[in-house]
Amino acid sequence: MGKDRGSTRIGRSDRRRFLEGTVAALAGGSVLAGGATRTLSWADWPQVRKQFLLKPGTIYLNCASIGVPPAPVVDSLARNRRSMAVDPIGAKSDLSRRIIERSRPSLAAFLGVDPQEVAFTQNASQGLQSIAAGIPLKPGDEVLTTSHEHPAGIRPWRRRAQLEGIVVHEIPMPSPLPPKEEILERICARMTSRTRVLFFCQVTRGGLLNPVRELCALARERGVLSAVDGAQAVGMMPVDLRNLGCDFFAASLHKWVLAPAGTGVLYVRREVQDDFSPGLTWEEPADARRFQMPGTFGYSVRASLGDAIAFLRNIGLERIGARNRRLSDYLKERLASLPRVRLISSRSPRLSSPGITIFEVPGHGGMKLRAGLQERGIGVDDHVRDGHDAVRVATHFFTTRAEIDRTLSVLQELIRA
Ligand SMILES: Cc1ncc(COP(=O)(O)O)c(C=O)c1O
Repeated sequence: MGKDRGSTRIGRSDRRRFLEGTVAALAGGSVLAGGATRTLSWADWPQVRKQFLLKPGTIYLNCASIGVPPAPVVDSLARNRRSMAVDPIGAKSDLSRRIIERSRPSLAAFLGVDPQEVAFTQNASQGLQSIAAGIPLKPGDEVLTTSHEHPAGIRPWRRRAQLEGIVVHEIPMPSPLPPKEEILERICARMTSRTRVLFFCQVTRGGLLNPVRELCALARERGVLSAVDGAQAVGMMPVDLRNLGCDFFAASLHKWVLAPAGTGVLYVRREVQDDFSPGLTWEEPADARRFQMPGTFGYSVRASLGDAIAFLRNIGLERIGARNRRLSDYLKERLASLPRVRLISSRSPRLSSPGITIFEVPGHGGMKLRAGLQERGIGVDDHVRDGHDAVRVATHFFTTRAEIDRTLSVLQELIRA
């Protein structure tokens, strides 16, 4: 595998400078590099890219499945793990303090909410389970959702329907999505006096972008609780929960946020906390921490979360969202020009997320294409659902146009063969 194995390709001083930049950026929105203060510009993307440790030849286009942590996060995790082995007594309280003083407040600020409204989870699935288990419902009460939900989101509701007699309506939605007025109409048409919850993805597994603000406002107007699966949104673009206006939100932080695997968040709006009880709820403390699963967890992992968030904030979420949009626009444009390839993702920024693109090649299954690309060092995923037999490509800010070009030329080889 060469000399990069197990070590970073960038020097210690580069890494230190990047972390200094992170601190400076958190303090004032600018970056301190080599003693000078400046703002990151487009020209800095190659510098950002150097923070990733991917072995030469690997093209990674699958942060929608699991993100690839940059060097400062890898180093932070390694330091934490080492400290637990070297000084378990001191490290446990040290890491706990960092989780309380850094990870939780920075996560809350990142999502635009109060620290008292966020609970740590291991992943989005755990948060989604808690949401489905914890909202008080009676037999006959209705939950509205869509046909595009991830199994981790929909299965707990289906199970509750089996066990408790609640009614779950999975409203069919086309892919790509229709204009937002039609989405709202389809949902409105199914709302009744028994509707209690509206549950949907901010961004679906296949990259469809829902009009979250409007859907949450509709729910609020009708006295319905809104619950959002944000697994594919957080870290891909700015996400401000207060602005979205949802009551519940769950996400993984090991996808687009690039935190170590095993980090997730459950948000419960302060005003609905007292009526929420996901079964394991403790009485104290009187905030969202009581919704966390009890027991020992990965201290090292959770304590590194602050570094992952700082890395993204240093670059800036607006800039990340804009770059992701440009990359996926470029990918879509190229895909649309290839013979035999059918681009499925909408080219409208209102209906399609800035990061996930899906396409089909009639006669070539998504799984087979994924395997073929993977054999050549290109990590993508298949998307065999929502009526598609597609390939899913996740372009994140560290992706380059050259990598997109290379991926498409390998794709062409595969479909010619
Ligand atoms: C939309 C959506 N929700 C939830 C999940 C579950 O995420 P995790 O496996 O990290 O819990 C995924 C995973 O890909 C997803 O795409």
